[in-house]
Amino acid sequence: MSELERTWPGLTQRRPSRTDTGWSVRAPLAAWLQREGATSAGKRVLDVGCGLTPYYPCFAAAGEYVGVDVVDGPTTDLIGPIEALPVEDDSFDIVLCTQVLEHVDDPAAAVRELHRVTKPGGRVLASTHGVMVFHPNPNDYWRWTHTGLRRVFDLNGEWQAIDVQPGAGTAAGLALLVARFLHLLAKRAHVAVAARPFVAALNTGAAALDARVPILREPVPGALFANLHVTAVKA
Ligand SMILES: C[S@@+](CC[C@H](N)C(=O)[O-])C[C@H]1O[C@@H](n2cnc3c(N)ncnc32)[C@H](O)[C@@H]1O
Repeated sequence: MSELERTWPGLTQRRPSRTDTGWSVRAPLAAWLQREGATSAGKRVLDVGCGLTPYYPCFAAAGEYVGVDVVDGPTTDLIGPIEALPVEDDSFDIVLCTQVLEHVDDPAAAVRELHRVTKPGGRVLASTHGVMVFHPNPNDYWRWTHTGLRRVFDLNGEWQAIDVQPGAGTAAGLALLVARFLHLLAKRAHVAVAARPFVAALNTGAAALDARVPILREPVPGALFANLHVTAVKA
């Protein structure tokens, strides 16, 4: 692991432990962004709703990396809401927006802004929840199906291509919800640490099941995805 990777904020997001109830959201998201970052050399990257910019190390080869959020923080370069980004039209090659859309007042306006600031031929990489417990930051308004999320993008920009993929399968989605409640129960009983091996077993078992049964990874009726990854290429 590089020095940057080891010391930059958000290591537990980039390298989550199997005992983390969010492992099946975080591990696939980090792997996806690591792959995307491999082609970012020299590019301009905007991280919208950046928080602590946990995925900056994946894009360390970029020419420029700008973090924007409504809340100021140690790695925030610009302050502004996703619905009115303080940056010029057509100005970034890659626009990241990880785990933000569920928190915004107006997701359609947010997607129009992501489209506006992306260069033609550039791409938006967005992730958001299919199912998840309520987690305000500062608000928590929305959840999507893969078709609903595609529609929000489709209706709010001229895109060359839109791809929506589940981060993990249906077994992982179910396991995540069970793990969250197990963790909460253990926390209430002041034995949070006791839940860890069970959470790790749930994560590992669900990942094995999803890998073994292809239909569990398919967006078919009955599917339950905890997280969705969107790649939208601007026309
Ligand atoms: C769950 S955190 C995700 C942070 C980071 N993108 C990540 O993946 O770790 C949600 C972030 O969205 C920001 N946020 C919430 N509403 C926003 C808005 N309307 N415009 C811009 N950022 C917003 C919050 O301040 C917070 O940093």
